[in-house]
Amino acid sequence: MWSLPALLLSLPVVYAAQAPTFAPPSGGPLIASPNLGGKSNTTLSKPTIVPGKQFDRFIQIWLENTDFDTANSSATFRTLSSQGITLTSYYALTHPSEPNYVASVGGDFFGMHDDDLYNIPANISTIVDLLEDKNISWASYQESMPSDGFGGFNFSQPNYLNSSAPPYVYYVRKHNPLIIFDSVANVPARAALQRNFNDFAADVNASAIPQWLFVTPNLVNDAHDTTIDFASQWLEFWLMPLLADQRFNDNRTLILLTFDENETQTVNNRIFSVLLGGAVPQAMRGTEDSTYYTHYSSLSTVQANWGLGSLGRGDTNKTMSNVYGLVANAVGFKNEEVTGNAIPLTNISGPIPGALNSNAYVPFAAPNISAVGAGGGPVFKGPGLNVSITPNTLPNPVNLTSTNQTVPAAGAVNATSTAPAGSTSGGSGSASAGISLRDPAIGKAVTISVFGAIIGAAVVLL
Ligand SMILES: *[C@@H]1O[C@H](CO)[C@@H](O)[C@H](O)[C@H]1NC(C)=O
Ligand SMILES: *[C@@H]1O[C@H](CO)[C@@H](O)[C@H](O)[C@H]1NC(C)=O
Ligand SMILES: *[C@@H]1O[C@H](CO)[C@@H](O)[C@H](O)[C@H]1NC(C)=O
Ligand SMILES: *[C@@H]1O[C@H](CO)[C@@H](O)[C@H](O)[C@H]1NC(C)=O
Ligand SMILES: *[C@@H]1O[C@H](CO)[C@@H](O)[C@H](O)[C@H]1NC(C)=O
Ligand SMILES: *[C@@H]1O[C@H](CO)[C@@H](O)[C@H](O)[C@H]1NC(C)=O
Ligand SMILES: *[C@@H]1O[C@H](CO)[C@@H](O)[C@H](O)[C@H]1NC(C)=O
Ligand SMILES: *[C@@H]1O[C@H](CO)[C@@H](O)[C@H](O)[C@H]1NC(C)=O
Ligand SMILES: *[C@@H]1O[C@H](CO)[C@@H](O)[C@H](O)[C@H]1NC(C)=O
Ligand SMILES: *[C@@H]1O[C@H](CO)[C@@H](O)[C@H](O)[C@H]1NC(C)=O
Ligand SMILES: *[C@@H]1O[C@H](CO)[C@@H](O)[C@H](O)[C@H]1NC(C)=O
Ligand SMILES: *[C@@H]1O[C@H](CO)[C@@H](O)[C@H](O)[C@H]1NC(C)=O
Repeated sequence: MWSLPALLLSLPVVYAAQAPTFAPPSGGPLIASPNLGGKSNTTLSKPTIVPGKQFDRFIQIWLENTDFDTANSSATFRTLSSQGITLTSYYALTHPSEPNYVASVGGDFFGMHDDDLYNIPANISTIVDLLEDKNISWASYQESMPSDGFGGFNFSQPNYLNSSAPPYVYYVRKHNPLIIFDSVANVPARAALQRNFNDFAADVNASAIPQWLFVTPNLVNDAHDTTIDFASQWLEFWLMPLLADQRFNDNRTLILLTFDENETQTVNNRIFSVLLGGAVPQAMRGTEDSTYYTHYSSLSTVQANWGLGSLGRGDTNKTMSNVYGLVANAVGFKNEEVTGNAIPLTNISGPIPGALNSNAYVPFAAPNISAVGAGGGPVFKGPGLNVSITPNTLPNPVNLTSTNQTVPAAGAVNATSTAPAGSTSGGSGSASAGISLRDPAIGKAVTISVFGAIIGAAVVLL
């Protein structure tokens, strides 16, 4: 057992009720800790690099629920802006969180307007299919996830910010987009690439991180349960040192730091996004790019960079999927000019029919098979895809809610209680999971992590 919880419990702590104060979840961004998730399940092998036109590695890091101006007024974000290209007209696609995440890998949110548990059928494809078609390595890193490929709804573990508080939910499935797709979750080799931050540390230390990464900090570090100041402190702790680490950020790495959605839901959905990393030319650092972008742009940009096929969904919608300027220029892709009133209102949540909208349900349609995206390749057809099911052949939307039904893709919430077979955390969920790491190899890291947590506790006490 880790001694951390017991140790912290023994401290004579008298807390005032207040918003959580940042404390580092581990001794450093590349040091293992039970706070980061279950024990690392081996490291990935060093990938064979498939060269892209503007970058060889794409890392997207998603924070939560923050308006553009709030992020732009943080000193940390101002610093990051000075090192990269700030995208000043980048919009989220809808509200709340989960549909934005799903759209960022699947090219559509299928009418979803909630944060429920879904299992999207295996014939609906994602960016993973396009990457694997070209042998481009990928992984998703989810902070505080108990085990690789974990399918549960959320996960609670000891509260490392406040040891006298009950176990805390740090990991949620709704911020882990690929596991929501059966084409990933039901393929063991792909499910194993849903990794936590202990795996991340091991993979970076082994110089083995893949070429396409989706990174989700936990619910306190991503500002979801906290504030922009808390998330800024996390970025200072985690991202800043990694930007200087060649194993994470070399001169062929492009990093997108973005948010899922803005906070004020009654207005349009502009969010702060900045492109960082060695692949950003020196001359462009500290500049702004006011081209209209959305979460679909991270699909089209990756497609353009590696000459991939497309998903034939939002990723090929000319209005919604402009390619990041530095990549568009490099590949000769012509973006659309979308300004002023032409910017689609993407704060709408609810009335869009789809296979994940129980109030206006229609089955999944095949993608537009004749679409051509920014990569120029064909539209990917997943196994069992029926291309004759198009938006035009779908029946009218049905209100399943009114007859007390859910959509077929809705899953049962089994939340914190279980981890799948092959779990790296020692299985059973709830408060004890994630603290049962016994590997002597990380014993040293544990000590350091405990030290960090004590510093964190001291900060809370001040
Ligand atoms: C820590 O948790 C305890 C128990 O839930 C609570 O009473 C206290 O206010 C919390 N402390 C802080 C600093 O939030
Ligand atoms: C972000 O903040 C800086 C510093 O206050 C300001 O100069 C800049 O115009 C802001 N950017 C946008 C797009 O509002
Ligand atoms: C991907 O790798 C496999 C196995 O090495 C190889 O047969 C295939 O040609 C490669 N595909 C591409 C697009 O390079
Ligand atoms: C829990 O739900 C997830 C997602 O639906 C699923 O992958 C997993 O197998 C479920 N676990 C159990 C034990 O039912
Ligand atoms: C990029 O890094 C590689 C490997 O460290 C080095 O050989 C190359 O000169 C660098 N290129 C530029 C443009 O800095
Ligand atoms: C949310 O984004 C919209 C569109 O950019 C912006 O007008 C609005 O001010 C943002 N909300 C807040 C509170 O900043
Ligand atoms: C592309 O997106 C725009 C803006 O959301 C929308 O009006 C249009 O219908 C979409 N086009 C297609 C073919 O879906
Ligand atoms: C997807 O597969 C299911 C069977 O698993 C099938 O019922 C459905 O029609 C397919 N949808 C599309 C768009 O291919
Ligand atoms: C669907 O039915 C539910 C429950 O009767 C109702 O609250 C909702 O407004 C309906 N939605 C639509 C779009 O008809
Ligand atoms: C609707 O579903 C809920 C949950 O399954 C159930 O408790 C309730 O009895 C159902 N109501 C009707 C009218 O069927
Ligand atoms: C975690 O899942 C449980 C359902 O088992 C739910 O009641 C709870 O609200 C969820 N918590 C969070 C923070 O998502
Ligand atoms: C590690 O992951 C692999 C691939 O998912 C799985 O087969 C294996 O059981 C896992 N090992 C441990 C110790 O969890």
